Amino acid sequence: MRAAVLTLAALLAAGPVLAAAPAPATSAWTRTGAPDTGQGGPVEQGRAVFHNRCSICHSQSAGPGRDGPSDMPGTFSLNFKYQGEKPAALEERTDLTPEVVKFYVRNGSGYMPHFRKTYVSDMELDALAAYLTRKR
Ligand code: HEC
Repeated sequence: MRAAVLTLAALLAAGPVLAAAPAPATSAWTRTGAPDTGQGGPVEQGRAVFHNRCSICHSQSAGPGRDGPSDMPGTFSLNFKYQGEKPAALEERTDLTPEVVKFYVRNGSGYMPHFRKTYVSDMELDALAAYLTRKR
């Protein structure tokens, strides 16, 4: 009993220390080592935002620790949806409009989460739309 009380006291004492530990700055959908989104024009910034927030699900190819398109829920789903009529990788699409990009990012769809303004700001979303609808 005495040991239990001591353990409890120790835990209570450690509480504020644990609570003060800083929360991690990244989430499950964030890549680290990403380029600075403050550089370049809208298309370059959009490319960086895409790398940070979208490529984990929408990349076109395998990368370190990844298993190719089947390991990327976005690319995999769009491959299934369009059956080869359109490229499965978003960055290869030429039919996207800013409205479509913004709708999906703010609302999500199926397995795709929606992104709040605190996570992808309106400015970042404008840049993303510019990148995914860039002229090629
Ligand atoms: C967790 C994985 C995930 C992340 C992160 C993600 N998506 Fe998606 N996205 C998906 C999936 C899965 C679909 C297919 C959803 C469906 O079919 O309903 C999709 C669909 C889309 C579509 C619809 C394309 C079409 O023709 O139907 C767009 C546009 C899109 N995503 C853009 C983005 C952008 C831009 C980002 C980054 C801000 C992003 N997604 C981040 C998983 C993701």
